[in-house]
Amino acid sequence: MTQQTIPVIAIDGPSASGKGTVAALVARELGFHYLDSGAIYRVTAYAAQQGGVALEDEPGLVELAHKIALRFDGVEVYLNGAAIGNVIRSEEAGRAASQIAALPALRAALLERQRAFRQAPGLVTDGRDMGSVVFPDATVKIFLTASAEERAQRRYKQLIEKDFDASLAALLQDLRERDARDAARSSAPLRQSADAALLDTTNLTIAQAVARVLQWFREAKA
Ligand code: C5P
Repeated sequence: MTQQTIPVIAIDGPSASGKGTVAALVARELGFHYLDSGAIYRVTAYAAQQGGVALEDEPGLVELAHKIALRFDGVEVYLNGAAIGNVIRSEEAGRAASQIAALPALRAALLERQRAFRQAPGLVTDGRDMGSVVFPDATVKIFLTASAEERAQRRYKQLIEKDFDASLAALLQDLRERDARDAARSSAPLRQSADAALLDTTNLTIAQAVARVLQWFREAKA
């Protein structure tokens, strides 16, 4: 199998849409690898803050992106060999990630790192530009979303489960601001591309969303 023939299921969409949960379950079901591309932006922003690199310093961030060693093992993330736990899952870490994600040179610097996850027997990945930029030849491209209110509820539950403090009103506002910034940036903006299927999960259970993705994948392969 050459890398180009390895199947990819690309799931893009806004913050807290549930795309990560769905993508991880689809990967488990198919026995495929899973890439949470948002985690790469989150860890890079975290590494910058730890290393004293300003979040506006594009050349400094590019250098850092090439230098850091990153490894994922289930839900754990290792930065330069050390497990970093939940620190990258806070709202603040998400904002920092979104800030550096607007820088085109940084996005370019992270491309090969993401493409390296395309390994047999297949990859399920989620993010903002998985189908449009990173894996334009993906087998299936999905834009997974839900209403802002529903997404704020989901993020609230997720944060409380991880023992973070959270306010529903603040989360809703933060989600709207992050969506607006991700959609307005010139480099790989958040939007449904013409060749991506829309999966609105506002009124779907996780199991229903997973079943839909699996069905589309089977149809695409047939
Ligand atoms: O998906 P997650 O919330 O973890 O992503 C954090 C931030 O990283 C997003 O708000 C977005 O700005 C950025 N991101 C991106 N491209 C991706 C994945 C994430 O720009 N493929």
